[in-house]
Amino acid sequence: MSEEIIDVQESETTENLRPERRSEKIIVVQGNKTLKGSVTVSGAKNSALKLMAASILGQGKTLLHNVPHISDIDVMGDVIQYLGATVERDGHDMSIDTTALNSLETPYELVSKMRASIAVLGPLIGRFGHARVAMPGGCQLGARKIDMHLVGLERLGVTFTIDHGFLEASAPKGLVGKPVLLEFPSVGATENLLMAAVVAEGTTIVENAAREPEIVDLANMLNSMGARISGAGNADIEIEGVTLDALHPCEHTTVGDRIEAGTFLAGAALLTGPVTVKGIDPAFLRMAIMKLEAMGATVVIDEAGITVSREKPLTATDIQTLPHPGFPTDLQAQFMLLAALAEGNTIITENIFENRFMFASELARMGADITIEGHHALVRGVKSLQGAPVSCTDLRAGAALVLAGIAAEGQTQIHEVEHISRGYEDYVGKLCSLGADVHYALV
Ligand code: EPU
Repeated sequence: MSEEIIDVQESETTENLRPERRSEKIIVVQGNKTLKGSVTVSGAKNSALKLMAASILGQGKTLLHNVPHISDIDVMGDVIQYLGATVERDGHDMSIDTTALNSLETPYELVSKMRASIAVLGPLIGRFGHARVAMPGGCQLGARKIDMHLVGLERLGVTFTIDHGFLEASAPKGLVGKPVLLEFPSVGATENLLMAAVVAEGTTIVENAAREPEIVDLANMLNSMGARISGAGNADIEIEGVTLDALHPCEHTTVGDRIEAGTFLAGAALLTGPVTVKGIDPAFLRMAIMKLEAMGATVVIDEAGITVSREKPLTATDIQTLPHPGFPTDLQAQFMLLAALAEGNTIITENIFENRFMFASELARMGADITIEGHHALVRGVKSLQGAPVSCTDLRAGAALVLAGIAAEGQTQIHEVEHISRGYEDYVGKLCSLGADVHYALV
């Protein structure tokens, strides 16, 4: 790349720099390094976002701990404040006062920034019987429909209309508990259903519910608010409805981020380690750990955390993404990177998001040998990768590209890095503490 590169800190945005320095912020990685040491993961993005939405049902001041400093959390903060709540942050603590929350509308400007804004639908219906939320549309991961959210809520008595790009929800006769069978264990649909069904009259059973640890975290928080949910983490979740007045604000600690943890574990397997990952329950990562072992890494689980190291070459092992406890789609790119440098051929099947293979083309720029056929990828292992200019196609791809750069020969310059800040707190700082040579720069 011929442009001049100016080193900057993560906190510097292109807007707050002097005009003559305004430019694109990238990540520069020097290759041929290893990772060693220990790292503590932050609170789970995909949990904290929903816990913030659930605070709407508390009608008072909720205190959340272990909330990560990432930009998606800022967007959810904007959504909740737009609705009329007060949000205050102090380190990793966040207080949300929803006493004065009085707006039922979530605008397109915010929903288009972050699809997970749709998580306010369930709690708004639960609290007010009405909601008006901009339709999320697609995103870089694909079409991402919300039909299952709607079909499920309709079963509980909600009617939906579309009005100029907004989804208008209303339950004039109140919510009534019912068995709801989900076509697929959708994380978002399960969460919206939980947050509405807690105040339905009678009992709701969500069948074929998502079983992700973030669902359990949400159910635990709702139960500390006075809800009656049992079975979260299993395929059938039973929700005995309570009155809205029976729900109150609570104090809750966000569960650790299993995807951030899995990203560092994959990094350790790639870059030999040993790296110890702390702040995560190893039970959340059983399938990822199984695959790491199958690929030649050594995994030790003890009081110190999860430690991954590798002395032999990486070996190919097929992977297919599935709902939890299957292999998570959010770790697919990181493991495709491992496969790219493994001995032998790997078939990766992506069953959750159709566009997640966009990452393969970026990795190919660094010398990976990958053929995509529909939702299958054939990854033929190569001996090494070379540093190159690449772009983040989504946040997990971004995290994997940084790891690829650390392993590659020479320098890698990574563009569209704002994706990484959506979901990884201080990713660059944490990698540097493990011995990587990674920094932000302007071009
Ligand atoms: N789907 C439908 N209809 C629906 C709902 C989902 O067709 O009504 C489809 C989706 O299009 C997708 C699949 O079902 O193909 C799975 O979607 P799901 O609802 O389970 O995912 P989500 O709630 O939209 C969350 C995470 C994702 C994570 C997935 C799967 C949040 C904010 N997002 O998305 O996280 O990949 O579950 O585990 O919780 C990420 O963090 O990088 C990320 C994308």
